[in-house]
Amino acid sequence: MSTPIIFSGIQPTGRKHLGNFIGAVQQYVEGQDRGEPAIFCIVDLHAISVAYEPAELRECLYDTTAILLAAGLDPERCILFRQSDVREHTELTWLLSAVTSHGDLNRMHQFKDKSARQRELVSAALFFYPVLMASDVLAYRATEVPVGDDQRQHVELMREIGRRFNERFGETLVVPELKIPEVGARIMDLQEPERKMSTTGGTEAGTVYVLDEPGTIRKKLASAVTDSGREVVRGPDKAGITNLIDILAVARGVDQAEIELEFDGAGYGEFKKAVAEGVIELLAPVRERYAELRPDQAALETALAAGAEKARAIAAATLADVRHAMGIGPK
Ligand code: TYM
Repeated sequence: MSTPIIFSGIQPTGRKHLGNFIGAVQQYVEGQDRGEPAIFCIVDLHAISVAYEPAELRECLYDTTAILLAAGLDPERCILFRQSDVREHTELTWLLSAVTSHGDLNRMHQFKDKSARQRELVSAALFFYPVLMASDVLAYRATEVPVGDDQRQHVELMREIGRRFNERFGETLVVPELKIPEVGARIMDLQEPERKMSTTGGTEAGTVYVLDEPGTIRKKLASAVTDSGREVVRGPDKAGITNLIDILAVARGVDQAEIELEFDGAGYGEFKKAVAEGVIELLAPVRERYAELRPDQAALETALAAGAEKARAIAAATLADVRHAMGIGPK
């Protein structure tokens, strides 16, 4: 198999949760030694598609940068940058909109969910969100997109956009593959295990944040919703326990069956305590490293700027090809 070009994006917020960490960030860290290159982008331009505070956005961007570095991304081994630093993304968004179907955008679940939640303005940016996402990936001719399960439809659409571009203008772009983790692609809310863990749509008590203190993690896990049974096994009517088994399996790096075997006969209370300790072990080093990295904003900025320079070199070459293929600008 040829070496993958890996690309993924993450929204800037200091409130990255266990779902983001397991579904995405762990895959990034693993990908940085496989990808040639592995490119990770903090998507501030996506963040402005819903109501937000400008000053907060900037702070959140540094928060997310520090979380990613603390989790193990190494700017020497990957390209880590801020989306808005590479203007090619916005230009490509417009160019790709020419081969994007309005009907497809209308069918995006995330647009439907998020637009229903907006109290004031449903922005055109929210509608265009998936086109910007397609540009993020296609600008680097990435072959692999590591994401959680909730991004499946967006990745399907970017594949369609890439295919349609190539059909219309000749082979120019690469159609990327979706990559979701085998376990943990959809971490559920601890209080409402039928819903995914989410910063915007979930419950506060059911969402474990990467930066939560151990005490808070213990409390959240202790009150996690289970079921009226007593067996620690996965099952369709055991959403809460299934989710906790997945979480502990990923935290310990073993498969789910091993967890079921170990907790055969144990009560839910004992099991939930073990999950809490597993999550603490997973996240505590990240929180500690974050505390060291976050105060040095200048260093974070330097890392992002260096990443942007490398990213721009790749994206600019693709844009030149795209413009040429589309008949835009001088010959
Ligand atoms: P964002 O910032 O909402 O989420 C970042 C990553 O976390 C994953 N994720 C989850 N995984 C498992 N369980 C969950 N409960 C859970 N919640 C979130 C997401 O699938 C995602 O991988 N649109 C993207 C950002 C983006 C992007 C891109 C991604 C912009 N451009 C290009 C890939 C390629 C987003 O909002 O992610």
